[in-house]
Amino acid sequence: MPSTNDAPLLRLTGVTKAFGSQTALQPLDLSVARGDFLALLGPSGCGKTTLLRIIGGFLSPDKGTVEIDGRDITAIGPEHRPINMVFQGYGLFPHMTVRENVGYGLKIAGHARDKREPQVNAMLEMMHIATLADRLPGELSGGQQQRVALARALVMKPSVLLLDEPLAALDLQLRKSMQSELRNLHREIGGTFICVTHDQSEAIGLANRIAVMNAGRIVQEGTPEDIYKRPANTFVAGFIGDSNILPLMRRSGVCTLASNSIASDGPDAQVAMMVRPTDIQLSEIKPTADICVPGQVADIVFMGDHVKFVVVIETGDTLAVHRPHAECDTGWIGRGVPVFASWSRNDSHVLDRT
Ligand SMILES: Nc1ncnc2c1ncn2[C@@H]1O[C@H](COP(=O)(O)OP(=O)(O)O)[C@@H](O)[C@H]1O
Ligand SMILES: [Mg+2]
Repeated sequence: MPSTNDAPLLRLTGVTKAFGSQTALQPLDLSVARGDFLALLGPSGCGKTTLLRIIGGFLSPDKGTVEIDGRDITAIGPEHRPINMVFQGYGLFPHMTVRENVGYGLKIAGHARDKREPQVNAMLEMMHIATLADRLPGELSGGQQQRVALARALVMKPSVLLLDEPLAALDLQLRKSMQSELRNLHREIGGTFICVTHDQSEAIGLANRIAVMNAGRIVQEGTPEDIYKRPANTFVAGFIGDSNILPLMRRSGVCTLASNSIASDGPDAQVAMMVRPTDIQLSEIKPTADICVPGQVADIVFMGDHVKFVVVIETGDTLAVHRPHAECDTGWIGRGVPVFASWSRNDSHVLDRT
């Protein structure tokens, strides 16, 4: 749905949360635009579920405010928020049929049976679970339970749908197909989705925006492309996609890697150079390149769609290099062979170490 104004649909300001002496969220700000599919991505224990529960109203922040459409809803209970949540593990009522589970929210909200039924039926159809309507959750597969949980949340027509690790319980094959279904659903409904995941490929596959979290903070927020191509620090670089992270010193605006000098603005500090494995070339003869380091091939691993070379460079650091199969058929390269690893300045990112 196109936004009628530029104000964010959801805005969190200075939200903090501690459980006893355990800090779960540091002062945290977050804005979500109408129609966004935002992934909250971070390792286990970084505060993702806590943040989602605060947005849903299931948990109160110690400090800070939650606003929706400019209205402060911090003190408003979950049942009065235009927000619905699909819990990790789905949280279906085991003694209720699929139809009763899906209709439960409407019933509690006081909708009459004749009003409820067409809405429930439409949602069962939309989620392709109409034939399962009279079964109990215990009689369903994981993927089917997932659809029921989604139907139960979406039938309430929430302005914001919250999803906590929605695909974590599914096997890889099903996870991939549910990913594209979730994306289609988001597009069809035109709503705003916020999805928690610890899986970077899932975040990239689902969302148009990603907020990367670490230790109770949002460390970077942007499009998947922004975050992949311009990670804010070594934590983000290491979390999104494969990366080589080479520790360096920055002195007087210059970082030195072997005999290469790389200009880098900023104070003298311990930093790191990040370069993606796909951006590195390997050559037998010293090439003309922005950055070139001699090394030796320590290992060659067949990875299916590419070949991974493990190269120990002159500094003692180890580089992972991903190359197409065709480049390995040229004969000169093998385990133990000296090589030059090279890459372009544009593909080198000097990052703060975290
Ligand atoms: N109800 C609770 N009581 C005590 N500590 C909690 C509670 N909920 C979460 N925590 C702690 O807060 C931190 C963040 O937890 P959580 O938000 O569940 O992380 P995530 O969802 O990213 O794995 C963790 O250290 C966790 O142990
Ligand atoms: Mg969690």
